[in-house]
Amino acid sequence: MYFDSHAHYDDRRFDDDRHEALLSLAENGISNITNIGSDIKTSKKSVALAEKYDFIYAAVGVHPHEVKDMQDADLLEIANLSKHKKVVAIGEIGLDYYYDHSPREAQRYWFKKQMKLAYDLKLPVVIHSRDATEDTIKICKESKIHGGIIHCFSGSVETAEIYLDLGYHISFAGPVTFKNSKSLPEVAKIVPEDRLLIETDCPYMAPEPHRGKRNCSVYVKYVAEKIADLRGVSAEHIAKITSDNAKKLFNIK
Ligand code: NI
Repeated sequence: MYFDSHAHYDDRRFDDDRHEALLSLAENGISNITNIGSDIKTSKKSVALAEKYDFIYAAVGVHPHEVKDMQDADLLEIANLSKHKKVVAIGEIGLDYYYDHSPREAQRYWFKKQMKLAYDLKLPVVIHSRDATEDTIKICKESKIHGGIIHCFSGSVETAEIYLDLGYHISFAGPVTFKNSKSLPEVAKIVPEDRLLIETDCPYMAPEPHRGKRNCSVYVKYVAEKIADLRGVSAEHIAKITSDNAKKLFNIK
């Protein structure tokens, strides 16, 4: 059974069939999901999904795209939401210099603030970093953590090694299956067993052979199969270790 460590079932692309999609997961090999918030509204929706479904856990936080209007009151709201017993992480937070939907200074400011909040709350962090490796590493080095995930990892072996040294888990999504992915197959071979996670980031990032379509947690098996193939182990083994790692990091009994 697979643990999809990063999904967005609050997304409107699931509005027509969310309940059916979620109910069909168990029979398709999915045991657990962490649904990730990206602003206050979707963080609340993540908590609501976790309340409704036993097998769903929630992360709450404000994504770099959305921090342009963030206020201190929002940070308080995140802290309040995090008190719910099924909130297992702060995220997704980080830096995105590819889209630059928020000014970079605001991105760095609220990333640091949310890193500090997670540490104070004794929760791990879920980090989004795109075209911002240098600044993400700098802030990660300055911040103390109770564990963390570099979500949908897309960097080099050298970058992965820096995050591993800092105590982070590396999570792979659809891109590791893409035919044009250059460094990711190499990274997938070197991440230690106890730091490896898999995710879909659904409805985004569908893996091969479903690239371009709406993604769902069932497709996490393609990510696992690709990593298993690269590492010369079985997909069942990848399912077991990534599921154990997710439960340990998210402190799920
Ligand atoms: Ni995401």
